[in-house]
This record gives sequence, structure tokens and C-alpha cells, in this order.
Amino acid sequence: MKAHTAVIPAAGLGTRFYPVTKAVPKELLPIFDVPALQLVMDEAIGAGCDHIVLVSSRNKPGLENYVTPNPLINSKLRDQGRHDIADRLARIGSDVRVSITYQDSPRGLGHAVGCAREVVGDEPFALLLPDELRGDSGLLSLLIASCEATGQSAIELKRVPMEEVSAYGVVSVAPGAPVEGPFEITDVVEKPKMEDAPSDLIILGRYVLTADIFEEIDKLQPHPNGELQLTDALLSQSLRTPVLGHLTTTQRWDTGTPLGWLEAVLDAALARPEIAPQLKAWLQTRLG
Ligand code: G1P
Repeated sequence: MKAHTAVIPAAGLGTRFYPVTKAVPKELLPIFDVPALQLVMDEAIGAGCDHIVLVSSRNKPGLENYVTPNPLINSKLRDQGRHDIADRLARIGSDVRVSITYQDSPRGLGHAVGCAREVVGDEPFALLLPDELRGDSGLLSLLIASCEATGQSAIELKRVPMEEVSAYGVVSVAPGAPVEGPFEITDVVEKPKMEDAPSDLIILGRYVLTADIFEEIDKLQPHPNGELQLTDALLSQSLRTPVLGHLTTTQRWDTGTPLGWLEAVLDAALARPEIAPQLKAWLQTRLG
């Protein structure tokens, strides 16, 4: 079965962006002039998803406002000639259904995904962490096709220098796979110390998961910090049916920190032909 639902966990407090996130959800911070959430939804829609599940918090009403259709604003955008963004907004709530579910306390990624269970139903689904942005829908399309062809969960992996592994989930893979993958995952450790990490292959923010992940989430035991980790559920799932890891080649921005966000903003502006020449000239002046 082909995954057509995209789950976007967006209930986090965004404390790294305080004080702005006291009032504005992190997912709505603009990447130049389009909110990160819109870019992540565009990516999911581009990969064929027609149902978006936003796992939100009741303290973040801005997210709900954002996905509520507003035909008046769309027609104003068209009057201004901004057809591209008007088209992208118009899909939300028409061609693409949006469901909102709430995670009432920040209890980890495993818990956030579990909150989407009822609206996802008994079918495979995509999971997109909105702190990470991608240049296009290619990687997600590949994960969806992999899951459809094999009936196994498919996740994104990247090789990184060992000094970077402890910020991520790190996997072990079965021997014998081609260097470019895909890999059968045999072990997963969440944020290990560098010396304990099983490899240099980290999990990134795009997953396509089969519905039995929810049974594994139900069985999760909290970590000492009280969080339920998705990586623990992935490990239990992989012991029953191998989870496949695909090396990513898609361009990626990590917008989880203010500096990463700024890099994404600058790249987005530099990619716009009507802005880039002026921005480059200004940057050259600033950089002397
Ligand atoms: C989460 C996952 C981790 C994964 C990472 C990718 O961690 O728990 O396994 O490697 O996303 O960005 P977080 O960054 O939410 O702490």
C-alpha cells in the first residue's frame, strides 16, 4: 500500500528560538517569505501525499490558523500577482485534507507520532520533522516507493563524521549491502556518545513507517528524561521486519537552531532571481 498521509510533529515549545516562539510557533518562522511549515507541506504534497496530520499543541493556535483556508486572502494574493503562493495555499483544505491532533505534553517524538494514530489509521504513513527542510520531494518519494514495494518501513540515513553522531539516532546495518545502500537496519541507538556509537550512519528527519509502529510505540518505556523515543520503536519494529535505510542525496537545511534557520533564509533568498542580485551586492558590501 502506498503512503498518502504525512504526519508533521509540531507541538514542541521551540525554546531555542525564545523569545519569539512565546508568540509565534517555530514552524511558522519565515524561510525568507514562506513559513517552514508550508515548505514541509509542499514537500509532502510533491511526494503524492493528500492528507496532512499536524500534531500540534493547544498553546500554538497559530498553526491551526495557518492551515485554515482563507479564500479572501488567496484572492488578494492573486490580485497582487502572487499566483504561486496562492495556488499552494489553495490546495490546503481542498485537494489536500488537513487533520489536527494534539500532543498535550512534550513527551518525545515517539509520543508525538503515537498521537497521530487515530487519524492515520491502519496504513503506512510519511513522517516529516519540520526542523529539517529539503530542496525537493525526491527523497520522500523514494522512501514512499520503497515502503510500497517492500511493505517495510523506510528511513533516511546519512554518513557523518563521528564527532557529529551524538546529536542523532545512529544505526547498525546488516553486512553485505552495496556502499550506496539500501541497508537493512539491525540496531538503533538514540544520541549515543561518540565512543559508543555503532556506526557513522545517522537517522535524519524523513521516515515512511508501516502502521505496526503504533503497536511498538504503545510498548515504549520512557527514557530517564520522561521521553518516549521513536528510535526504540524503530528498533523493536526492525527485529520483526527489517527497516530499510536509504542514504540521502537531497539538499537539506537544519532549521532547529537560529544559525541554521538564517542559513536557510539566505539560501531561499539567493535562489530567488528577483532578489538574488541585490542580496549578493549587499552581502559583498557587508563582508568587505
Ligand atoms: C530526532 C530523532 C533522532 C534523529 C533526529 C533527526 O531527534 O529522535 O533519532 O536522528 O530527530 O533530526 P531530535 O532532533 O528531535 O532530538
